Amino acid sequence: MKARFFTMLAAVLLSVSALAQSDFALANFDHEVTQPAPGGDTTDGGPQAVSNITSVAGVPLVRLNNGVMMPRFGLGTQVQSMEGANQRQQLNETVRGMVIAALQSGYRHLDDAMFYYNERGAGWGIRESGVPREQIWVTSKISGNLADAQNAFNGMLERLQVDYLDLVYIHHPAGTLADILACWRVMEQEYKAGRIRALGISNFDNRMEAFNYIMENAEIKPQMAQIECHPLAQRKEARQLYANNYDVQVECWYPLNHNRGDVSNTTLLQIAATHNRTVYQIILRWHMQEGLCPVPGSTNPDHILENISIFDFSLSDEEMEAIRAIDRGDAGRSFNLGYGNYGFGNFQDYTYNHTYEPPTAIETPHASTLSADTQIYTLQGQQVNTPQRGVNIIQQRDGTTKKILLR
Ligand SMILES: NC(=O)c1ccc[n+]([C@@H]2O[C@H](COP(=O)([O-])OP(=O)(O)OC[C@H]3O[C@@H](n4cnc5c(N)ncnc54)[C@H](OP(=O)(O)O)[C@@H]3O)[C@@H](O)[C@H]2O)c1
Repeated sequence: MKARFFTMLAAVLLSVSALAQSDFALANFDHEVTQPAPGGDTTDGGPQAVSNITSVAGVPLVRLNNGVMMPRFGLGTQVQSMEGANQRQQLNETVRGMVIAALQSGYRHLDDAMFYYNERGAGWGIRESGVPREQIWVTSKISGNLADAQNAFNGMLERLQVDYLDLVYIHHPAGTLADILACWRVMEQEYKAGRIRALGISNFDNRMEAFNYIMENAEIKPQMAQIECHPLAQRKEARQLYANNYDVQVECWYPLNHNRGDVSNTTLLQIAATHNRTVYQIILRWHMQEGLCPVPGSTNPDHILENISIFDFSLSDEEMEAIRAIDRGDAGRSFNLGYGNYGFGNFQDYTYNHTYEPPTAIETPHASTLSADTQIYTLQGQQVNTPQRGVNIIQQRDGTTKKILLR
């Protein structure tokens, strides 16, 4: 009798907790797959065998317009206050700690850029976190006006100590339209070779001629667009533009408005008090319920954990409306650079003293994988005699396939 009571109690508790979870859980959503990623069907997210992205800590996934799945919440890794040339060792040490704290708190998406001068530190963090690289979505950004984009991309892999990047943005539309397209062409080649899983444009809303030029001339249209976006600057026009044209997913930089304005807004503070949450959590939950991807930055492990702890409550329709009403449009933006002649200058590579364990490959080819009975294909579906650098598809005699990564 007692046992039956506890079984019933457990069943009730389980259904209550399932109900509670279903109230707060944010479903994964799909963009229409208009340009499937090379090298695989889209049921597993394109070239997913090298990647193993799953929902962790309640973070929902989004299927991008090439079929690849991405965690919709990430860590911003820029620490602007430490970017001075004489602070870079400290900067990289700090970012290493942020990345470890984030990955151990359930983050599986990191937002970086070559011009943040911290890719080495992020790479150490990834390798020392204990989380396998293939479970992490790694983004970096390249500038559109570099003389040698190929060399810059190779440097990003080297500094981040990875074989592929999940997402590469053109950071900002500086330079001529020809410069920007030349950079995009290099990214397209890397995408086709399996060393980039998704392509993006960042800040192109600030230079519409560059946006139109990429959309007209790109062979691979962008999967992602990164823009400044937070409750005081909700960027409705830019979001509409990306959604309407190419089903491009919007990611938000300065989601907390760099700790200004929004965090002292009365409406947001009142909603925070109602839920017994911090204003930071309310802002980030608003992004998530709007279908956006926020990448909040923090150097503080407690804040890093607090920011991802937003999947056990939800904002009501009325609260979402109240937050939509505080939008100040462009007046609420932190900065709005006019690009064209503006650039980030020459990239200065940097070194760093660090001891770490040697990296392990996701899966290296070995004798049994490459027996005489197997056939080897590149991501573009061409049959080859020996594995190529990048992702290879190995078809075994029994018809099963597996993907291997060759450095
Ligand atoms: N594409 C672009 O052009 C572009 C431009 C700018 C930024 N970004 C990306 O966007 C990311 C986010 O930008 P951001 O980091 O500058 O600004 P942010 O995420 O809007 O705000 C970060 C600031 O908020 C504070 N903060 C964060 N969580 C907090 C919490 N729970 N409680 C109290 N304070 C908190 C941080 O201080 P603590 O360190 O003390 O927590 C930091 O000062 C960047 O890291 C970068 O990846 C991209």
